[in-house]
Amino acid sequence: MTSNQLLYSDPLKAAEQAASEIAKRTGVLSHDIALVMGSGWVDAVSVLGSPDFECNADEITGFLPPAVEGHSGKIRSYSIKSGDKILRALVFLGRTHLYEGKGIEPVVHGVRTAVKAGCKVVILTNACGGINTSYSVGQPVLIRDHISLTATSPLIGAHFVDLTDLYSKRIRAIVKAADNSLAEGVYVHWRGPTYETPAEILMMRALGADLVGMSTVPEAIAAHALGAEVLGISLVTNAAAGVTGEKLNHEEVIAAGKAAATRMGTLLKEVIPKLL
Ligand code: HPA
Repeated sequence: MTSNQLLYSDPLKAAEQAASEIAKRTGVLSHDIALVMGSGWVDAVSVLGSPDFECNADEITGFLPPAVEGHSGKIRSYSIKSGDKILRALVFLGRTHLYEGKGIEPVVHGVRTAVKAGCKVVILTNACGGINTSYSVGQPVLIRDHISLTATSPLIGAHFVDLTDLYSKRIRAIVKAADNSLAEGVYVHWRGPTYETPAEILMMRALGADLVGMSTVPEAIAAHALGAEVLGISLVTNAAAGVTGEKLNHEEVIAAGKAAATRMGTLLKEVIPKLL
C-alpha cells in the first residue's frame, strides 16, 4: 500500500506511521508542541533560530507536496529553552487546505501526526480577512471560537466530541498575559478557493464572526479530538470583501504576513516556553 492509500484507508495509522518516521529521522522520541505556520507566517519561524532538523513534508508518510505560494511544505524540529528544560517543537511550514480537493484527511494529517509524535499543545496560525471593522491589517487576533461553514468534519462515526473549550482558555490567558494588546475573535471557516462575496461577509458578521479564512478549523477539531490543547492565532492580512471596497488578492496576504513576521515570531518565541 502506498503512503497516500494508507492516509485515506486508515488516517490514524498513517499518522502513527508518520510520527514514527519523524522520531527516527529527528532522533527525538517525543516532541512537546506543534506549530502549523499558515500563509504569511512562514517567515516568523526565523525568530526561533536554526532548526535541528528539516525535511520536505512529502518525504513523510501521508504528506502531500505544497500547492500554494507562501506554504513551503517543510517539516522542522526545533529545541526551545524553557527554564532548565528543553522543549521540542515540531513545526510544519505550510498545510493542505480543503479547497485543494484532496479530501479532509490530508488537511488534518499534520496535526494528527504531531499528536502521535507526543505534542500536547498545537498552535495553529493563519492569514485571514478581518470582518470586524475594529481590526487593522497586520494585527494578530487570538481565535476564541469558530463557526464552520464548510459542512465538513475530520471525524467520522459516532464520535460526539465537546468543543466548548476548543481554543484553550488556559492557553489564551497565558498568551494575553504576554501581550495584553491582543484581541480575541470568532473565526469562520470558508472552503474557498474563492474569497467571499461582500454579501457573504455581511452574513458572517450577522452570525457573529470577526475573522474569515480557509483553514485551521478542521485541524483544531482533529487535534482536540486526540486530546491536544489548541491555540489559534489569525493574522489579519486584509479587510474582508466589501469592508473597504478594495479587491482582494493573495499577494497582499503574503506581503502583510512578511511585514508582521518578526512581531509574530517574537510573540511565539515568548509564549511557547510558558505553555508546557
Ligand atoms: N477570506 C478568506 N481567507 C483569507 C482572507 C479572506 O479575506 N484573507 C486571507 N485568507
